[in-house]
Amino acid sequence: MRIMIIGSGGREHALAWKLSLSSWVQKIYCIPGNPGIAQVAKCLPANIEDSDRLIHLAVQNEVDLVVIGPETPLAAGLVDDLTAAGVLAFGPGKAAAQLESSKVFAKQLMERYQIPTAAGSAFTGSAAALAEIEKRGTPIVVKADGLAAGKGVVVAATREEAAQAVRRIMDERAFGEAGKKVLLEEYLVGEEVSVLSFTDGETIIPMASAQDHKAVFDGDDGPNTGGMGAISPAPQLTPELLSAVQEEVLVPTIRALRREGIVFRGVLYAGLMITADGPKVLEFNVRFGDPECQVILPRLKSDLGKIMLATINGNLSEKELRWHNYHTACVVMASGGYPGPYEKNHVIAGLEQAASMQDTLVFHAGTALQEGNIVTNGGRVLSVTAWGATLPAALDKTYAACRSISFDGAHYRKDIGHRALRHIKESYDISFMH
Ligand code: AMP
Ligand code: GLY
Repeated sequence: MRIMIIGSGGREHALAWKLSLSSWVQKIYCIPGNPGIAQVAKCLPANIEDSDRLIHLAVQNEVDLVVIGPETPLAAGLVDDLTAAGVLAFGPGKAAAQLESSKVFAKQLMERYQIPTAAGSAFTGSAAALAEIEKRGTPIVVKADGLAAGKGVVVAATREEAAQAVRRIMDERAFGEAGKKVLLEEYLVGEEVSVLSFTDGETIIPMASAQDHKAVFDGDDGPNTGGMGAISPAPQLTPELLSAVQEEVLVPTIRALRREGIVFRGVLYAGLMITADGPKVLEFNVRFGDPECQVILPRLKSDLGKIMLATINGNLSEKELRWHNYHTACVVMASGGYPGPYEKNHVIAGLEQAASMQDTLVFHAGTALQEGNIVTNGGRVLSVTAWGATLPAALDKTYAACRSISFDGAHYRKDIGHRALRHIKESYDISFMH
């Protein structure tokens, strides 16, 4: 079997690494990939938005399965294009990808089918949105409708902050066409968890749980990023809560789409707030999360490629996902200034030492090869991942690996897993008291 992965981040490195462990996978290509991915795949340069070129490369290299990492090509309909050209592709088609590419589409679907989510209203003009902010007051959440690399959401504490977000999104078009519509949403309080699942449009199987850390600084401070670190499992997601998510969110969403004539195949990712009234959807993604993928795949015992094929062939019900019991942690090492402007081309030292540490994988994200050196080439540079019998053990190994890596301006959060650790401690204190 010959596989082609589309993308170049830590998520795609984790996908390439996991797929490379299958004996029946003979060859992996990655477009465009990065120097870390090049250790397990042949990287080919191409624009991932040029679907004609991607189809050509898949056909020319006799690729049996294309796996698409990021949301942009999914939203643009790459899976439909590949399928029409006779190439198997893992991921949802354009219609199903709207769950992520339009927050208004997702909200309206959830409202129509009573899937629990924050109450929200959509606006196509800034004047009406600004009037609504005056009326509703704060806290309020302002969201650009379209794709904005995780940066199109503002949780506003004051009316002024909310108004500023609306003006930036709609009038200044800070995220381009993604800001044609805006969603104003009720602010939810609770614990945030992610549940990713595989689905063939009928059967939906949750993966091991994970928790992302979106804010750039320790203590969940500062602006949101694509994700600064993750852990798996998320102890907040008890088996009872997971069944509630399955019954109230995952299954109804797949069914709702089917009623609308849309079959969702691929990864459905539900970003959830566990509120006092139960789990509510914050967002849907239609792909693996980054860095959630980097903590989930090292725990997956089952063969990833076979599960992907089952989502495409519609026989996922015959599959079972098996997991390692250990805990994983991932810390993202980022460029100085990220998520704002940052410098590139700083030499990264210590990669080999980190990769040789026990139970540790260093997934590359924004890296490049320059005159024999691995240099920084993006905001999120590395996803340093390790596992252990407990969350603290996994975190210790991950941070030991981070400390052995250095580059100018490097920064990373020192408190990944803090909410999970607090939760574990509180549960322990409670059970101890009883
Ligand atoms: P999203 O991209 O929609 O997941 O939003 C990014 C982040 O903003 C989420 O991970 C939450 O931390 C926060 N957020 C989004 N929607 C809400 C909401 N309705 N209430 C509280 N926080 C939210
Ligand atoms: N880590 C969040 C995402 O991939 O959207």
